[in-house]
Amino acid sequence: MARSKIVLIVIVGLFIIMQLIPLNQTNPPVIQDIAAPSEIDVILKNSCYDCHSNETKWPWYSRIAPGSFLITRDVVEGRKHLNFSDFADLDAFDSTDIADEIIEVLEEGEMPILPYLLLHPGASLSDSQITALSEWAETLYSE
Ligand code: HEC
Repeated sequence: MARSKIVLIVIVGLFIIMQLIPLNQTNPPVIQDIAAPSEIDVILKNSCYDCHSNETKWPWYSRIAPGSFLITRDVVEGRKHLNFSDFADLDAFDSTDIADEIIEVLEEGEMPILPYLLLHPGASLSDSQITALSEWAETLYSE
């Protein structure tokens, strides 16, 4: 068999095997959704919820390896840092900490992360959305 054919068969084989690796692409139940005012809720749902909630939308391409590995990692890591679906029983220390982190990533323009924005251009935050989110995050301090 021609060498190029063998290479092709190997590549296709690896691609198929990759698809069989199980991924944790689940949406666990919402424990307690953060009660944000509706205009903030719209922004969070549009720009943050895919990685920072249990209401992730998994598009068809998120199911195809190897891209699926990267997307799943971002969701798992994102939820670990901040999960808007799990805001039950936050004490004052935790909510202040979260508020600080949200304000910081907004100031630095770190969120949503770039690969996500390339696939979801509509999720990028306008200046007025950044201001609105930061002002809202400040209200988390006292709670
Ligand atoms: C595509 C997935 C994705 C989206 C969408 C996304 N994030 Fe993140 N976020 C992550 C990941 C992954 C981390 C953890 C690793 C890191 O800090 O880069 C993170 C970390 C964070 C942290 C913690 C930072 C720290 O210092 O620990 C905050 C706060 C945050 N994101 C806020 C937001 C906000 C607010 C939005 C919406 C405007 C958003 N993120 C959208 C993936 C995402």
